[in-house]
Amino acid sequence: MGSLAISGGDPAVAVPYRTFAHPRIDDGDFRRLADPELRDQVVSFDGLGLVSRVEDTFRDVLGLGGYTMATNSGTSALYALYYAAGLGEGDEVLVPAYTFFATAMPLFRLGCRPVLVDSTDNGNIDPADIRRKITPATKAVVITHMWGVPCDMDEILAVAAEFGLPVLEDASHAHGATYRGTVTGAFGSGAAWSLGAKKIVTGGQGGILHSPDSEFLERAFLVSRANDKQHDRGITSAHLQPYAVTGSGLNLRIHPFSAFAVEGQLRSLPRQLSERRESAALLARELGRLPGLSVPRVPDGAEPAWYAFPLQYDPAALGGLPREDFVRAVVAEGAVEADIPGSTCPLTRFRAFTGEDGTYPGAPVSRITHDEADFPGAHRFHAGIVKLPVWYGEQRLEYARAYVDAITKVVENVKDLL
Ligand SMILES: Cc1ncc(COP(=O)(O)O)c(C=O)c1O
Repeated sequence: MGSLAISGGDPAVAVPYRTFAHPRIDDGDFRRLADPELRDQVVSFDGLGLVSRVEDTFRDVLGLGGYTMATNSGTSALYALYYAAGLGEGDEVLVPAYTFFATAMPLFRLGCRPVLVDSTDNGNIDPADIRRKITPATKAVVITHMWGVPCDMDEILAVAAEFGLPVLEDASHAHGATYRGTVTGAFGSGAAWSLGAKKIVTGGQGGILHSPDSEFLERAFLVSRANDKQHDRGITSAHLQPYAVTGSGLNLRIHPFSAFAVEGQLRSLPRQLSERRESAALLARELGRLPGLSVPRVPDGAEPAWYAFPLQYDPAALGGLPREDFVRAVVAEGAVEADIPGSTCPLTRFRAFTGEDGTYPGAPVSRITHDEADFPGAHRFHAGIVKLPVWYGEQRLEYARAYVDAITKVVENVKDLL
């Protein structure tokens, strides 16, 4: 191989693998919008069945069982999840220190106090730290399957059961990931998925909530869908029924356009997942043997969904080259989507989890102040991550090989960058 592209050489990747087109929505899907029946559905109040069809399909394709409800975002689904779990004023809720902030922020709106829990070596919540953080005020444990890699569920479920705490899953990165044969999102009292932006299944904006318990779902309905016309899945419990028309204050419905976009993708989700797993296996095999790089630990019996591939970079093994310089060189070689995540970071980077004052209207006054030094696992993982896309579709292995070539070239020529 010649000199590095960042120093003027030819890029390792001859074909420019520009940004990966996701989601793959068939043209035919959009042409179906011209069908008058479908057009009426997507401009109706409640999708005239489209939304409930998507909710049922999501449940069935993932193999969740139980009950599902679509919302207008993952954040809304998480809010409805916490509301339905009965969390409220003064309750302490354990949340991962390393997650996307929306996992925890809705708790503030319910008056809860998020308590951060450190990460293990793969960025997921540490069961041993869950145990350390439990107090008499703890009311639930929230977990996120980061980047699509399932958490250490056996240990988490054991500690939660020991203390009688419900487990609530943020599966926004993990549509269809499994752990010992159970799909993520089906482990606890309830779960939420984002269907936003570039998620594995996306409506641009959107979310899904799931629970094995019908009354849990009715409580989620109460805060999300006042006056719902879909009586087949509305509120029927005697004590909630008097509030079915007014709901309890919000309208968190998914937009039928989003539901329509999601419907098409659900049909091909199993294939997307098996193809992502193939690409990730190639990345793990090839990159895992390079110095300075390590691949994420996958718990025994887990099949990740691989929303992204969270490679870990260790500068000590590469002459001390800073991670930012490494990524710039890799991008110059043609691995253009190699990335250092910004807003997905330890929550101690945000005032909401460290400050004591209320600086915005309705800001929580009794928040818990967290100190960065208490979360070494989360900070170590965040300091080392180099995020790669994980491809599916016909060219998936070409993309994966191109990225391997780009990264290998930088590692082999690292001395030129020192
Ligand atoms: C782990 C996680 N939780 C929650 C969310 C929030 O979802 P949304 O953006 O759909 O509100 C996201 C979205 O980026 C996420 O990655």
